[in-house]
Amino acid sequence: MSTEQEIFEKCGRTYNTNDIIFREGDMGNEMFIIQSGKVKITKQLKDGVEKTLVILGPGDFFGEMAVIDKDVRSANAVAMEASRLIALDEEVFEMHMQTNPKIVKKILKNLTSRLRDANQQIANLMIKDTNRLVANTILLVVHKHGEEGPGGITLDIPFTVSELSKMCGLDMKKTQEIVEKLVKAKVVTLSGETIVVTSLDSLEKFIKFLEMKEQFGE
Ligand code: CMP
Repeated sequence: MSTEQEIFEKCGRTYNTNDIIFREGDMGNEMFIIQSGKVKITKQLKDGVEKTLVILGPGDFFGEMAVIDKDVRSANAVAMEASRLIALDEEVFEMHMQTNPKIVKKILKNLTSRLRDANQQIANLMIKDTNRLVANTILLVVHKHGEEGPGGITLDIPFTVSELSKMCGLDMKKTQEIVEKLVKAKVVTLSGETIVVTSLDSLEKFIKFLEMKEQFGE
């Protein structure tokens, strides 16, 4: 049996699409490492709108905050597809932190990158023009999850209008309206429900255009 399989036998968990791993406010004494699949970290906003903070994939971890500060879960964790996770309880986590500097470094690096993302998201949420907010959120998604190839940009996450609305913290109707404008401007196309970014260059130019419009008026 491979080591990965052995670890999974000991502390593995499987989840199906849309299964809730935990909810914001739950008590939590274990953290999770994603072996396969995708997990979405979300937060409920005041008006009932759900905001996606991040989408995580294989090798990423989450749920460490409640273990470190012994507080409640700061956000929801939901499986976006069939996922296999390794659950590490407080004791095992502490033991690794005490004995393995590589793990400590990895956690610090990850927290730093999360803080950078959060700063970017704060800057994004300050954008008053909802057209620019949506276009800029698409750009952030492309930078984080996209790869540019000869046939356009491929994303490693399912990117629907509904997902985009949760990332922007906007309702679905408004997001749909703005995506239609972006389609008309040939910045994105729709393949069924999925948003396809055909050219990073067009997207960036469109955002510049909206910035100029905001600065200098119609
Ligand atoms: P915890 O608070 O235990 O449960 C929710 C988890 O979501 C949290 O630990 C982190 O692992 C993760 N998390 C919370 N906020 C963010 C964020 N802004 N970006 C990425 N991950 C987050």
